[in-house]
Amino acid sequence: MQRSQDKPIVAGNWKMNKNARESIEFFQGFLREITEETEQSQFILFPQNINLLAAKQVLGSTKVGWGAQNCYPKESGAFTGETSPQALSEVGAQYCLIGHSERRTIFQESDEFIADKLVTLQSWGVTPVLCIGETKEQRDQGKTEEVLKNQLEIGLSKNRIECPLMIAYEPVWAIGTGDVATPEQAGLAHKFIRSELATKYTEDYANQTVIMYGGSVKPDSSKALFAQEHVDGFLVGGASLEVSSFIAIYKNS
Ligand code: 13P
Repeated sequence: MQRSQDKPIVAGNWKMNKNARESIEFFQGFLREITEETEQSQFILFPQNINLLAAKQVLGSTKVGWGAQNCYPKESGAFTGETSPQALSEVGAQYCLIGHSERRTIFQESDEFIADKLVTLQSWGVTPVLCIGETKEQRDQGKTEEVLKNQLEIGLSKNRIECPLMIAYEPVWAIGTGDVATPEQAGLAHKFIRSELATKYTEDYANQTVIMYGGSVKPDSSKALFAQEHVDGFLVGGASLEVSSFIAIYKNS
């Protein structure tokens, strides 16, 4: 199987960080550095939902992708505090993270609930970025592939193959810990995910699906990770909060 790109997709998950002013400053600073449209299109930013309009204002006329960190799997209704895929689509968000380990653990989101988000986003033309990954305990017990298989099986149970989809492999033990996966660990997990997609769908579908790695990615670890055949890009937390380190992850790869 062949990767289609020679540069990584680099996505920044800002989590619950940056207010509107800080978000706009970042977008503007980023655009001063990355002016080529072909390069802009390699990046995606995930600010807090309240700052999506700021993203639209500054990034709307560029090739930089942007999207939401979460949504609720209904079109509208009495779901106080939630954000609908319809509203995300209307504001212009191209992507939405689903299944992030912080949402799975802190908010007890199930694979079934994540599957509902996935298909609702697709029906509104927003690309879901399905995050999957094992805990340290599961890895130590040799259950990594079993966990990934299960998360894919249920998470993709309503997937519409005519719609775009991205996957992020984020081992829970690597998120926010500084304990980045080794290139071999990431490479093996990505290869497994790709082969699961090929089995479930087709080789073409598997090859077209971007699989990003996330978990303590820094400018000094991106090159070796991206050298792995099945690592197509990165979903970056902490190092996406500064323009310089975010861009360096891309440039170093
Ligand atoms: P860190 O890069 O801070 O480990 O976060 C990764 C992550 O959770 C991205 O979604």
